[in-house]
Amino acid sequence: MNRNIYRTLFTLVALAVPVLLALLGPARAWAHGPADGGASTESINDLFTVIFWIAVPVFLLVEGLVLYAIWSSHRRRKDASEPDQIEGSRPLEIGWTVLSFVIIGIVFILGYRFMSTEYRVEADQEETTPDLTVHVTGYMFNWDFKYFLNDGTGPNDDTGITTTRRMTIPAQRNVLLEITSDDVVHSFWVPELAGKIDAVPGYVNTMWLNVKEPGLYEGNCAEYCGTLHWNMLIETQALPPDEFDMWIAEQRAAAEQAGAAIGQDLTTPLPQGDAAAGEAQFHELGCDSCHAQQPGAGPSLAQIAEHAQQQAGTADYETPQDYLRESILVPCAYTYEGYNCQVMPGNYGERLTAQQLADMIAYLESYE
Ligand code: CUA
Repeated sequence: MNRNIYRTLFTLVALAVPVLLALLGPARAWAHGPADGGASTESINDLFTVIFWIAVPVFLLVEGLVLYAIWSSHRRRKDASEPDQIEGSRPLEIGWTVLSFVIIGIVFILGYRFMSTEYRVEADQEETTPDLTVHVTGYMFNWDFKYFLNDGTGPNDDTGITTTRRMTIPAQRNVLLEITSDDVVHSFWVPELAGKIDAVPGYVNTMWLNVKEPGLYEGNCAEYCGTLHWNMLIETQALPPDEFDMWIAEQRAAAEQAGAAIGQDLTTPLPQGDAAAGEAQFHELGCDSCHAQQPGAGPSLAQIAEHAQQQAGTADYETPQDYLRESILVPCAYTYEGYNCQVMPGNYGERLTAQQLADMIAYLESYE
Protein backbone atom coordinates (compact mmCIF):
# COMPACT_ATOMS: atom_id res chain seq x y z
CA MET A 1 0.00 0.00 0.00
CA ASN A 2 2.70 2.48 1.11
CA ARG A 3 4.89 1.43 -1.77
CA ASN A 4 2.09 2.26 -4.16
CA ILE A 5 1.70 5.75 -2.75
CA TYR A 6 5.41 6.37 -3.08
CA ARG A 7 5.37 5.11 -6.60
CA THR A 8 2.46 7.37 -7.52
CA LEU A 9 4.17 10.32 -5.87
CA PHE A 10 7.38 9.57 -7.72
CA THR A 11 5.53 9.35 -11.03
CA LEU A 12 3.76 12.64 -10.42
CA VAL A 13 7.01 14.41 -9.54
CA ALA A 14 8.76 12.85 -12.53
CA LEU A 15 5.98 14.18 -14.73
CA ALA A 16 5.69 17.58 -13.10
CA VAL A 17 9.39 18.47 -13.25
CA PRO A 18 9.77 18.36 -17.05
CA VAL A 19 6.41 20.10 -17.48
CA LEU A 20 7.48 22.93 -15.17
CA LEU A 21 10.87 23.16 -16.87
CA ALA A 22 9.16 23.35 -20.24
CA LEU A 23 6.95 26.17 -18.96
CA LEU A 24 9.90 28.14 -17.58
CA GLY A 25 10.87 29.73 -20.90
CA PRO A 26 7.36 30.88 -21.86
CA ALA A 27 6.75 32.07 -18.30
CA ARG A 28 9.85 34.22 -18.44
CA ALA A 29 8.76 35.69 -21.78
CA TRP A 30 5.31 36.24 -20.32
CA ALA A 31 6.59 38.06 -17.27
CA HIS A 32 8.86 40.15 -19.46
CA GLY A 33 5.85 41.48 -21.34
CA PRO A 34 5.47 41.96 -25.06
CA ALA A 35 8.44 43.20 -26.99
CA ASP A 36 8.47 46.58 -28.62
CA GLY A 37 10.64 47.57 -31.47
CA GLY A 38 10.31 46.10 -34.90
CA ALA A 39 7.68 47.11 -37.41
CA SER A 40 6.20 43.63 -37.11
CA THR A 41 6.48 43.02 -33.36
CA GLU A 42 2.80 43.67 -32.70
CA SER A 43 1.61 41.19 -35.30
CA ILE A 44 4.11 38.61 -34.02
CA ASN A 45 2.78 39.11 -30.48
CA ASP A 46 -0.83 38.82 -31.66
CA LEU A 47 -0.06 35.62 -33.51
CA PHE A 48 1.76 34.24 -30.49
CA THR A 49 -1.18 35.04 -28.20
CA VAL A 50 -3.65 33.25 -30.47
CA ILE A 51 -1.44 30.16 -30.81
CA PHE A 52 -0.77 30.20 -27.07
CA TRP A 53 -4.48 30.14 -26.19
CA ILE A 54 -5.14 27.38 -28.72
CA ALA A 55 -2.27 25.40 -27.19
CA VAL A 56 -3.42 25.78 -23.56
CA PRO A 57 -6.58 23.59 -23.81
CA VAL A 58 -4.73 21.05 -25.98
CA PHE A 59 -1.96 20.89 -23.40
CA LEU A 60 -4.39 20.50 -20.51
CA LEU A 61 -6.36 17.82 -22.37
CA VAL A 62 -3.30 15.75 -23.28
CA GLU A 63 -1.62 16.06 -19.89
CA GLY A 64 -4.97 15.41 -18.18
CA LEU A 65 -5.44 12.18 -20.14
CA VAL A 66 -1.89 11.07 -19.33
CA LEU A 67 -2.43 11.68 -15.63
CA TYR A 68 -5.83 9.98 -15.76
CA ALA A 69 -4.30 6.94 -17.48
CA ILE A 70 -1.61 6.66 -14.83
CA TRP A 71 -4.09 7.04 -12.01
CA SER A 72 -6.62 4.56 -13.41
CA SER A 73 -3.98 1.95 -14.29
CA HIS A 74 -2.91 2.00 -10.63
CA ARG A 75 -6.46 1.41 -9.52
CA ARG A 76 -7.00 -1.39 -11.99
CA ARG A 77 -4.06 -3.37 -10.71
CA LYS A 78 -5.99 -4.45 -7.63
CA ASP A 79 -8.73 -6.45 -9.33
CA ALA A 80 -6.35 -7.41 -12.20
CA SER A 81 -9.21 -7.99 -14.64
CA GLU A 82 -8.52 -7.03 -18.23
CA PRO A 83 -9.94 -3.61 -19.17
CA ASP A 84 -12.48 -3.21 -22.00
CA GLN A 85 -10.81 -3.63 -25.38
CA ILE A 86 -12.00 -0.84 -27.67
CA GLU A 87 -11.18 -1.07 -31.35
CA GLY A 88 -11.69 2.09 -33.35
CA SER A 89 -14.31 4.76 -32.87
CA ARG A 90 -15.58 6.54 -35.95
CA PRO A 91 -16.98 9.63 -34.18
CA LEU A 92 -13.74 10.11 -32.23
CA GLU A 93 -11.55 9.65 -35.30
CA ILE A 94 -13.60 12.02 -37.43
CA GLY A 95 -13.75 14.44 -34.48
CA TRP A 96 -10.02 14.77 -33.92
CA THR A 97 -9.23 14.82 -37.63
CA VAL A 98 -11.67 17.67 -38.29
CA LEU A 99 -10.62 19.55 -35.15
CA SER A 100 -6.92 19.30 -36.08
CA PHE A 101 -7.71 20.61 -39.55
CA VAL A 102 -9.67 23.53 -38.15
CA ILE A 103 -6.90 24.46 -35.70
CA ILE A 104 -4.16 24.18 -38.33
CA GLY A 105 -6.35 26.14 -40.75
CA ILE A 106 -6.80 29.00 -38.29
CA VAL A 107 -3.08 29.14 -37.53
CA PHE A 108 -2.28 28.98 -41.23
CA ILE A 109 -4.63 31.81 -42.18
CA LEU A 110 -3.45 34.03 -39.32
CA GLY A 111 0.20 33.24 -40.10
CA TYR A 112 -0.29 33.97 -43.77
CA ARG A 113 -2.07 37.22 -43.02
CA PHE A 114 0.69 38.25 -40.64
CA MET A 115 3.41 37.48 -43.16
CA SER A 116 1.78 39.59 -45.84
CA THR A 117 1.21 42.41 -43.34
CA GLU A 118 4.83 42.29 -42.34
CA TYR A 119 5.90 42.83 -45.93
CA ARG A 120 3.31 45.56 -46.43
CA VAL A 121 4.53 47.44 -43.40
CA GLU A 122 8.04 47.33 -44.75
CA ALA A 123 6.92 48.38 -48.21
CA ASP A 124 4.96 51.31 -46.75
CA GLN A 125 7.94 52.52 -44.82
CA GLU A 126 10.13 52.35 -47.90
CA GLU A 127 8.70 55.84 -48.54
CA THR A 128 10.05 57.28 -45.31
CA THR A 129 13.74 58.03 -45.11
CA PRO A 130 15.53 56.22 -42.34
CA ASP A 131 17.31 58.30 -39.70
CA LEU A 132 20.00 55.66 -39.65
CA THR A 133 20.85 52.88 -42.04
CA VAL A 134 22.93 49.99 -40.77
CA HIS A 135 24.65 47.61 -43.16
CA VAL A 136 24.58 44.27 -41.37
CA THR A 137 26.95 41.62 -42.62
CA GLY A 138 26.99 38.13 -41.20
CA TYR A 139 30.00 35.85 -41.58
CA MET A 140 31.28 32.79 -39.79
CA PHE A 141 30.98 33.56 -36.90
CA ASN A 142 30.18 37.17 -36.28
CA TRP A 143 28.20 40.20 -37.37
CA ASP A 144 29.62 43.47 -38.63
CA PHE A 145 27.61 46.69 -38.48
CA LYS A 146 28.38 49.72 -40.63
CA TYR A 147 26.58 52.99 -39.89
CA PHE A 148 25.14 55.43 -42.40
CA LEU A 149 23.51 58.56 -40.99
CA ASN A 150 20.87 60.51 -42.75
CA ASP A 151 21.70 63.84 -41.17
CA GLY A 152 21.34 66.12 -44.14
CA THR A 153 25.00 66.04 -45.13
CA GLY A 154 24.07 63.84 -48.04
CA PRO A 155 22.02 60.73 -48.59
CA ASN A 156 23.18 57.89 -46.38
CA ASP A 157 26.25 59.66 -45.13
CA ASP A 158 28.88 57.02 -44.32
CA THR A 159 30.10 57.56 -40.76
CA GLY A 160 33.05 55.25 -41.30
CA ILE A 161 32.10 53.49 -38.07
CA THR A 162 32.12 49.69 -37.98
CA THR A 163 31.24 47.63 -34.96
CA THR A 164 31.29 43.89 -34.51
CA ARG A 165 28.77 41.86 -32.57
CA ARG A 166 27.21 44.88 -30.89
CA MET A 167 24.89 47.11 -32.88
CA THR A 168 24.19 50.52 -31.36
CA ILE A 169 21.07 52.29 -32.59
CA PRO A 170 18.88 55.18 -31.44
CA ALA A 171 15.53 54.37 -29.83
CA GLN A 172 12.39 56.09 -31.13
CA ARG A 173 13.87 56.64 -34.56
CA ASN A 174 13.49 54.88 -37.88
CA VAL A 175 16.37 52.51 -38.42
CA LEU A 176 16.75 50.56 -41.64
CA LEU A 177 18.82 47.40 -41.55
CA GLU A 178 20.28 46.14 -44.82
CA ILE A 179 21.22 42.59 -44.11
CA THR A 180 23.54 40.35 -46.11
CA SER A 181 26.21 37.69 -45.65
CA ASP A 182 29.83 37.24 -46.67
CA ASP A 183 29.80 33.47 -46.83
CA VAL A 184 26.93 31.11 -46.04
CA VAL A 185 23.30 31.79 -45.11
CA HIS A 186 22.86 33.18 -41.61
CA SER A 187 19.75 34.57 -40.01
CA PHE A 188 19.47 37.82 -38.11
CA TRP A 189 17.21 37.42 -35.12
CA VAL A 190 16.64 39.61 -32.09
CA PRO A 191 13.42 38.08 -30.75
CA GLU A 192 12.37 41.07 -28.68
CA LEU A 193 12.60 43.39 -31.65
CA ALA A 194 11.37 41.55 -34.71
CA GLY A 195 11.11 38.31 -36.64
CA LYS A 196 13.98 36.46 -38.29
CA ILE A 197 15.47 37.70 -41.51
CA ASP A 198 17.94 35.60 -43.46
CA ALA A 199 21.36 36.99 -44.29
CA VAL A 200 22.01 35.65 -47.77
CA PRO A 201 25.30 36.10 -49.66
CA GLY A 202 24.91 38.32 -52.72
CA TYR A 203 21.49 39.55 -51.66
CA VAL A 204 20.28 42.32 -49.36
CA ASN A 205 17.25 41.82 -47.12
CA THR A 206 15.83 44.80 -45.31
CA MET A 207 14.22 45.25 -41.91
CA TRP A 208 12.85 48.36 -40.24
CA LEU A 209 13.23 49.02 -36.56
CA ASN A 210 11.76 51.70 -34.38
CA VAL A 211 12.63 50.62 -30.86
CA LYS A 212 10.36 52.23 -28.31
CA GLU A 213 12.30 51.46 -25.14
CA PRO A 214 16.05 52.03 -24.84
CA GLY A 215 17.85 48.93 -23.63
CA LEU A 216 20.03 45.99 -24.54
CA TYR A 217 18.30 43.41 -26.71
CA GLU A 218 20.10 40.15 -27.29
CA GLY A 219 19.81 37.92 -30.30
CA ASN A 220 21.57 35.15 -32.13
CA CYS A 221 22.13 33.78 -35.60
CA ALA A 222 19.07 31.63 -36.29
CA GLU A 223 20.30 29.58 -39.21
CA TYR A 224 22.77 26.78 -38.57
CA CYS A 225 26.00 27.91 -40.23
CA GLY A 226 28.81 25.82 -38.75
CA THR A 227 30.59 24.76 -35.59
CA LEU A 228 30.35 28.12 -33.82
CA HIS A 229 26.81 28.99 -34.92
CA TRP A 230 25.75 29.06 -31.28
CA ASN A 231 28.22 31.83 -30.57
CA MET A 232 27.17 34.14 -33.41
CA LEU A 233 25.56 36.57 -31.02
CA ILE A 234 23.94 39.92 -31.67
CA GLU A 235 23.82 42.60 -28.98
CA THR A 236 21.47 45.37 -29.96
CA GLN A 237 21.91 48.44 -27.84
CA ALA A 238 19.15 50.99 -28.24
CA LEU A 239 20.20 54.33 -26.76
CA PRO A 240 18.03 57.39 -26.11
CA PRO A 241 18.40 59.56 -29.25
CA ASP A 242 20.62 62.22 -27.64
CA GLU A 243 22.94 59.56 -26.19
CA PHE A 244 23.13 57.94 -29.57
CA ASP A 245 24.22 61.22 -31.17
CA MET A 246 26.93 61.44 -28.52
CA TRP A 247 27.99 57.88 -29.22
CA ILE A 248 28.35 58.63 -32.93
CA ALA A 249 30.38 61.76 -32.18
CA GLU A 250 32.65 59.83 -29.82
CA GLN A 251 33.19 57.02 -32.30
CA ARG A 252 34.00 59.50 -35.03
CA ALA A 253 36.43 61.41 -32.83
CA ALA A 254 38.11 58.18 -31.75
CA ALA A 255 38.46 57.08 -35.36
CA GLU A 256 39.97 60.42 -36.30
CA GLN A 257 42.37 60.43 -33.41
CA ALA A 258 43.50 56.88 -34.04
CA GLY A 259 44.61 57.77 -37.54
CA ALA A 260 44.61 55.75 -40.70
CA ALA A 261 44.19 52.00 -40.94
CA ILE A 262 47.38 49.99 -41.34
CA GLY A 263 46.26 48.20 -44.51
CA GLN A 264 48.36 45.18 -45.40
CA ASP A 265 51.64 46.86 -44.56
CA LEU A 266 53.94 44.19 -43.14
CA THR A 267 57.19 46.13 -42.80
CA THR A 268 56.80 49.62 -41.27
CA PRO A 269 57.87 49.45 -37.61
CA LEU A 270 54.94 49.42 -35.18
CA PRO A 271 54.57 51.53 -32.03
CA GLN A 272 54.90 49.97 -28.59
CA GLY A 273 51.91 47.66 -28.00
CA ASP A 274 49.74 47.52 -24.91
CA ALA A 275 48.59 43.97 -24.10
CA ALA A 276 45.59 45.08 -21.99
CA ALA A 277 44.27 47.31 -24.78
CA GLY A 278 44.89 44.45 -27.18
CA GLU A 279 42.85 42.08 -25.04
CA ALA A 280 39.90 44.49 -24.89
CA GLN A 281 40.06 44.89 -28.63
CA PHE A 282 40.32 41.15 -29.16
CA HIS A 283 36.94 40.79 -27.47
CA GLU A 284 35.41 43.84 -29.12
CA LEU A 285 36.25 42.60 -32.59
CA GLY A 286 34.84 39.21 -31.70
CA CYS A 287 38.16 37.39 -32.30
CA ASP A 288 37.43 35.26 -29.26
CA SER A 289 34.47 33.64 -30.97
CA CYS A 290 37.01 31.59 -32.98
CA HIS A 291 40.21 31.94 -30.93
CA ALA A 292 39.46 31.09 -27.34
CA GLN A 293 41.14 28.94 -24.72
CA GLN A 294 39.98 25.83 -26.54
CA PRO A 295 40.61 25.45 -30.27
CA GLY A 296 37.48 26.47 -32.21
CA ALA A 297 37.15 27.50 -35.83
CA GLY A 298 40.69 28.82 -35.40
CA PRO A 299 43.70 27.80 -33.31
CA SER A 300 43.47 28.48 -29.58
CA LEU A 301 45.24 31.43 -27.98
CA ALA A 302 47.90 29.19 -26.43
CA GLN A 303 48.54 27.55 -29.79
CA ILE A 304 48.95 30.96 -31.42
CA ALA A 305 51.41 32.22 -28.81
CA GLU A 306 53.43 29.03 -28.90
CA HIS A 307 53.44 28.92 -32.68
CA ALA A 308 54.62 32.52 -32.92
CA GLN A 309 57.61 31.58 -30.76
CA GLN A 310 58.43 28.60 -32.92
CA GLN A 311 58.19 30.58 -36.15
CA ALA A 312 60.56 33.29 -34.96
CA GLY A 313 63.99 33.00 -36.50
CA THR A 314 62.85 30.90 -39.44
CA ALA A 315 63.45 31.98 -43.04
CA ASP A 316 60.03 33.60 -43.18
CA TYR A 317 59.81 35.45 -39.87
CA GLU A 318 62.48 37.23 -37.93
CA THR A 319 60.44 37.75 -34.76
CA PRO A 320 57.21 36.36 -33.28
CA GLN A 321 55.67 39.79 -33.97
CA ASP A 322 56.37 39.39 -37.70
CA TYR A 323 54.51 36.12 -37.74
CA LEU A 324 51.55 37.48 -35.76
CA ARG A 325 51.36 40.62 -37.85
CA GLU A 326 51.15 38.70 -41.10
CA SER A 327 48.68 36.20 -39.66
CA ILE A 328 46.30 38.99 -38.59
CA LEU A 329 46.54 41.07 -41.76
CA VAL A 330 46.81 38.26 -44.35
CA PRO A 331 45.18 35.19 -42.77
CA CYS A 332 45.94 32.87 -45.67
CA ALA A 333 49.62 33.80 -46.11
CA TYR A 334 50.56 31.12 -43.62
CA THR A 335 48.14 28.24 -43.23
CA TYR A 336 47.78 26.29 -40.08
CA GLU A 337 47.12 22.60 -40.40
CA GLY A 338 43.60 21.54 -39.47
CA TYR A 339 42.08 25.03 -39.89
CA ASN A 340 40.50 26.78 -42.82
CA CYS A 341 42.19 30.18 -43.18
CA GLN A 342 39.23 31.47 -45.17
CA VAL A 343 37.08 31.46 -42.07
CA MET A 344 39.10 34.40 -40.77
CA PRO A 345 38.04 37.78 -42.17
CA GLY A 346 40.81 39.21 -44.38
CA ASN A 347 39.89 42.84 -43.72
CA TYR A 348 41.58 43.52 -40.39
CA GLY A 349 44.08 45.73 -42.21
CA GLU A 350 41.22 48.07 -43.03
CA ARG A 351 39.92 48.03 -39.49
CA LEU A 352 43.04 48.31 -37.38
CA THR A 353 45.41 51.22 -36.98
CA ALA A 354 49.14 50.65 -36.42
CA GLN A 355 48.61 51.18 -32.69
CA GLN A 356 45.68 48.77 -32.52
CA LEU A 357 47.64 46.13 -34.42
CA ALA A 358 50.59 46.57 -32.08
CA ASP A 359 48.26 46.18 -29.05
CA MET A 360 46.74 43.04 -30.50
CA ILE A 361 50.17 41.52 -31.18
CA ALA A 362 51.30 42.41 -27.65
CA TYR A 363 48.26 40.62 -26.24
CA LEU A 364 48.72 37.48 -28.35
CA GLU A 365 52.41 37.31 -27.60
CA SER A 366 51.89 37.63 -23.87
CA TYR A 367 49.21 34.96 -23.74
CA GLU A 368 50.13 31.94 -21.65
CU1 CUA B 1 25.52 32.22 -38.54
CU2 CUA B 1 24.35 30.43 -37.60
